[in-house]
Amino acid sequence: MTEPLSSTLSIPVTGPIPRHIAIIMDGNGRWAQKRYLPRVAGHRRGAEVVRRILMTCRDRGVEHLTLFAFSSENWRRPPAEVTLLMRLFRSMLEGEVARMHEVNIRFRVIGDLSRFDGAMIRLIEQAEALTAGNTGLTLSVAANYGGRWDILQAVRRLAQTRPDCLATLSEADLVPHLALADAPEPDLFIRTGGEQRVSNFLLWQLAYTEFYFTDVLWPEFDADELDRAIQSYQQRERRFGRTSEQLRGADGVQREVAGR
Ligand code: FPP
Repeated sequence: MTEPLSSTLSIPVTGPIPRHIAIIMDGNGRWAQKRYLPRVAGHRRGAEVVRRILMTCRDRGVEHLTLFAFSSENWRRPPAEVTLLMRLFRSMLEGEVARMHEVNIRFRVIGDLSRFDGAMIRLIEQAEALTAGNTGLTLSVAANYGGRWDILQAVRRLAQTRPDCLATLSEADLVPHLALADAPEPDLFIRTGGEQRVSNFLLWQLAYTEFYFTDVLWPEFDADELDRAIQSYQQRERRFGRTSEQLRGADGVQREVAGR
């Protein structure tokens, strides 16, 4: 049977370890400012944390990690900060991806690549091609990504390939065109840095995701913090529209709670 990829079309299989974690890595700027450092120092530190959390996710058995590195709204930041974020992204493509390949990690980028220059697009394509056959964790980096853009680009692609189906458009028609279409929807969404909002990340895909917010700033997020988020996830009852009684079944035994 094909794996259900849409939580509103079918009930996904869940276990104690989230198959897919999506993270908004917030708080780099505040971490730096608290130390009287420039904001960019926080991003540099944040990039180091990315490396560690990637490996921790892999060790815990997470299959997909999706990170919001740069939103379609982040271009509004001061030019020097945008430049530094692009440099960090480029250095990940130039250096880190080869190391990821060595440990069987698949790397890809989601987002509107049209804003990037040709050299950057080539690096992204090379990185994706190099790691395409890897079977370990898939790291998806969201760059110039926005959830509304994602839905619109999916509609546009569908309109190009099957213009006749727009009048009767269904979820099943659209889902294959969304970013991350080949991954299960995120089980766990983490946002560090104390804010409690989605900020135009994965709007469609987060429909039935469990949310975890922490005040910890991203540069201080570590394996223990990740385990805390996973433990919180394991306490959640994932009903996907059903009642608790249905989950318990006739014998009163709780089933399909994420942690059991
Ligand atoms: C939000 O913190 C963070 C970002 C906009 C960028 C995240 C980037 C990294 C962690 C480094 C690069 C990562 C990759 C994958 C190449 P903020 O600046 O909004 O923090 P603040 O809320 O404290 O100001």
